[in-house]
Amino acid sequence: MTSNGAHGANGDAHAVLTDEVMAGFGKPTEEARGLPNEAFTSDAFFELERKTLFPRSWLLAGLVSDIADKGDARPVEVAGRSLILGHAQDGDIRAFHNVCPHRGARLLTEPVTRQPVMTCPYHAWTFGMDGGLRNRPNYDGPDKHNDGRNAGGERPCLFPVRTQVWHDWIFVNLDGKAPAFEDYITGGGDRFDGYDLDAFRFAHRMSFSFACNWKLAVENYCDNYHVFKVHPALNDAMSWDEASRRPMDVAGRHLSTEYWFKDVDKGQLGNKSGVGLPKPHGLPNELHSKMVYSVLFPNTAINVYPANLQLVLFEPVSAGETNMHMWFYFVGDAAEAPAYAEARQTLYDDWSNLNFEDEDICRRLQEGRHCDAYDGGRLAPYWDIGTVHFHQQVADAVRGEGAFANGR
Ligand code: FES
Ligand SMILES: [Fe+2]
Repeated sequence: MTSNGAHGANGDAHAVLTDEVMAGFGKPTEEARGLPNEAFTSDAFFELERKTLFPRSWLLAGLVSDIADKGDARPVEVAGRSLILGHAQDGDIRAFHNVCPHRGARLLTEPVTRQPVMTCPYHAWTFGMDGGLRNRPNYDGPDKHNDGRNAGGERPCLFPVRTQVWHDWIFVNLDGKAPAFEDYITGGGDRFDGYDLDAFRFAHRMSFSFACNWKLAVENYCDNYHVFKVHPALNDAMSWDEASRRPMDVAGRHLSTEYWFKDVDKGQLGNKSGVGLPKPHGLPNELHSKMVYSVLFPNTAINVYPANLQLVLFEPVSAGETNMHMWFYFVGDAAEAPAYAEARQTLYDDWSNLNFEDEDICRRLQEGRHCDAYDGGRLAPYWDIGTVHFHQQVADAVRGEGAFANGR
């Protein structure tokens, strides 16, 4: 359920994210306050995030695995915008707005594979997978075709979107003004030092629907605190001491957490899941029984286990709904070899159970944000430093301040 809050209905960031709210982030965690309720329940605030926070950030748009061959392209939706991801003949991966520059028709509605060009369904202008115009039939009149060049010789192009490939993952920055990707990823990406992320291959995707705002789903995902209460099987598999079960740590502008297994051969989630899967060659000893999470701001997460990896995207649907997509990766041919089918399936089943446990909690978190008495929370100093940090990142991104200020 969503509602237009009295202050947020005009979409003014400062009406919800007042100076008092902003000051609340800077206090010691026990006295700090998180984002106000409207940031989670108001349709107007949700729209504001779509116009400000998401365009200003680097966002996961898709997988290189999904456009693996030259000539592949697919339409994707990112923060309410339709984009095309294309694999050009020169090997480059590029992203474009999914609109024909002629009269504005939607260009792609389905993926295409190994095609030399994309053809607009309206007047048949064709574009290479690099976005460049190739041909305009009957452009200068009947049977007077054009080779895609203007009178001055230049070749118009689909409207490009700033793109960066990192391992198997394609990130885009819609406003073109985010910091360089290397700077953006600092902190969150560093958490995977020691892992060979390119050893992992995509195998399977699962999606879940959560009745909560996207921010609550993100926070919950990185919160080790709730595991002892909400996930008994997982809790049983994890060591319980300060050194081996971290809170939600701040990692640059991102969040991170990690834990050690009691006995990794008994399963990652407490049910033999993942047991027997091959690990990457050269995995350092200290990573053989450890799990590392990073939430890459704002809504992508990567978890690396000794023998598998999950990529997670929290897709905001509305103020009170979020789709969570999980892509499972395994080492080399363990992604598809029948010998590992049971190990893979056990892992998928256990993750389904885990996500169903979280679904109920996320619904309750959303319901709680409709309670007038809740004012951003009474936070736990050991566990919630990351919660406050995440809220501040959101507020800065919406207001265009801090790391999100103009000219950053
Ligand atoms: S709108 Fe695409 S060719 Fe005319
Ligand atoms: Fe959980």
